[in-house]
Amino acid sequence: MEKLVVLSGAGISAESGIKTFRDSDGLWENYPVEEVATADSWYSYGRKALMLDFYNQRRRQLRDAAPNLAHKTVADLEKYFDVTVATQNIDNLHERAGSTNVIHLHGELTKARGEYSDYYTAQDIGYQDILIGSKTAKGEQLRPHIVWFGEAVPELDKAARAVGNADILVIVGTSLAVYPAAGLVHYTKTGCRVYLIDPKDVSSSVRFTHIKEKATVGMQQLRNQLIKTI
Ligand code: APR
Repeated sequence: MEKLVVLSGAGISAESGIKTFRDSDGLWENYPVEEVATADSWYSYGRKALMLDFYNQRRRQLRDAAPNLAHKTVADLEKYFDVTVATQNIDNLHERAGSTNVIHLHGELTKARGEYSDYYTAQDIGYQDILIGSKTAKGEQLRPHIVWFGEAVPELDKAARAVGNADILVIVGTSLAVYPAAGLVHYTKTGCRVYLIDPKDVSSSVRFTHIKEKATVGMQQLRNQLIKTI
């Protein structure tokens, strides 16, 4: 089976009703990113209640959201390819659509860990709120299991290896604005076929075939095209 990697961003969840970050009326238009999505804000400025509320709101929204046809099409590709999903998204919609091999580059909304504990000690919390006073068994304040700006991306190497082995790379719903995740597109091997699905133009130094459609339409088009070549 050929290896296919999907590098997804907020745009693949847009049709599930989840806001992107940089589109008009996106999340970063309504929230000061430096206050709600940076390590400094939590550890240096102590904006813990504000940050917990920001992620509690997004976790509740995720509980009421559903995977869309794009997520389902990505999952369907597992019938034809050895698929790895490397997502920048913190939602669980790829998994809920049936994808079985998902790397979360920026963490997961449905997990939490002690604020001073190792990244890999994170536990599932489902869609529960995290509050000031929500603690681990050892009595440590819980924090969202999100990779904030200023923090390392522990899953990056694993994703880079997957991209480096890919015969096909599908980039969907990302502005490729945030590194190191965006840099993954440079790890492709010679001969890897690269497709980008986005209704807007996305600038990148990597050559790709642009399917200028929203994710639900573009993923279906690409799937139908790819399975013809098997
Ligand atoms: N289908 C496909 N693509 C879409 C759709 C759609 N229905 N709607 C919007 N898009 C595209 C936009 O054109 C844009 O290129 O999705 C992309 C969303 O870009 P961003 O909002 O920048 O989201 P993303 O690239 O995932 O951001 C990366 O930035 O703030 C951090 O950690 C956060 O993981 C996030 C990272």
